[in-house]
Amino acid sequence: MDGIEAKGPARAIGRNASNSATACAHANIALIKYWGKADEGLVIPTTSSLSLTLDGLSTQTTVEFLDGDETLAGGDGARADGDEVRADAAGSDGSATKSDATPDTISDTVPDTLTIDGVLQHGTSLARVSRFLDLIRERAGIAAPARVTSRNTVPFGAGLASSASAFAALAAAASRAAGLELSGRELSRLARRGSGSACRSIYGGLVKWNAGHDDATSYAQPVECPMDLAIIVILISAKEKPMSSREAMRLTMRTSPLYPAWVRASADDMTRALAAVAASNLDALGEVVEANALGMHASMMAARPAVIYWLPQTITALSAVRDLRKHGYSAWSTMDAGANVKVLTAAADAEQVASELRDRLPGQTIEIHHIGSGVRVVE
Ligand code: DP6
Repeated sequence: MDGIEAKGPARAIGRNASNSATACAHANIALIKYWGKADEGLVIPTTSSLSLTLDGLSTQTTVEFLDGDETLAGGDGARADGDEVRADAAGSDGSATKSDATPDTISDTVPDTLTIDGVLQHGTSLARVSRFLDLIRERAGIAAPARVTSRNTVPFGAGLASSASAFAALAAAASRAAGLELSGRELSRLARRGSGSACRSIYGGLVKWNAGHDDATSYAQPVECPMDLAIIVILISAKEKPMSSREAMRLTMRTSPLYPAWVRASADDMTRALAAVAASNLDALGEVVEANALGMHASMMAARPAVIYWLPQTITALSAVRDLRKHGYSAWSTMDAGANVKVLTAAADAEQVASELRDRLPGQTIEIHHIGSGVRVVE
């Protein structure tokens, strides 16, 4: 069956039903990366990936399916006082103000509303959420538009996995609000359709996304981890990245002569990473984690035109981590689609490693993140 199996009966959204749910999800950082899709529509990756779900970096999202009597533009809360209008990659110059948000600026074909951190969204981010909600409406047999309100503790689009926590929280909140009772695997498959990495944020701790070959076989599952790990984030830039990971992975796949080599190496990287985890060997894990991420960035840099997320401070941070190893610390770098560097280390050493990094990287924001839990519906 292509899709999510509803455990509960599909139901119409009625006036007296509770059509609203709130869910909270944490970001995850991949140790073995996902970079490239074998199937764009279904978000089937070219490689399996492995990640750690982290505490601290989270998204809380409320989804309310509106009944027929409520109008979207006029519904209370749809545009609460103080909300701004965010104009995104749809082509605006970003200068939209609250007064631009008249009801007729909301697309007829996309009648949902989306507010992220108090900013009403238009254009591509709203369209992406609406398309995702369509998957849920289809399965639940409802047609109601939704009001989606989201709060993040993750800087948006800065390569800190905001789309992972965002779509994991959205999948859980929206499916519950629509009356669907989904298993963890079904939720993971659903979240994957919103953003690939989101399928891993359904679970806490160490998580493997099995690439699979179709919708039913591509999902994440928890992996037992005998080590207590931590990730230290060196925040080099909280600005929205110059190119989305979606676009950058597409360009890398299409034009980089190094991409096939990275994909080939990735299967072996995964085997080595899982063996290192099972043996509680942090150095063996760290070595393959750092190599896998640098290989992914090498493949991006070889794209035409090149995708370079690195800033000068990125190199300084990567060197600082190598220097820590020379001084006997087990600390290993990884990077995603952005300039920030994340450092894998043992939870017990995290304070010490962070303090050594602060000494070497003065003025940089350096935060420790421990293991976080999976998605949960909170209301
Ligand atoms: C570099 O999950 O954001 O963080 O599926 O197109 O939404 P889409 O991509 P996304 O890509 C994440 C890429 C990465 C590596 C990873 O998290 O595995």
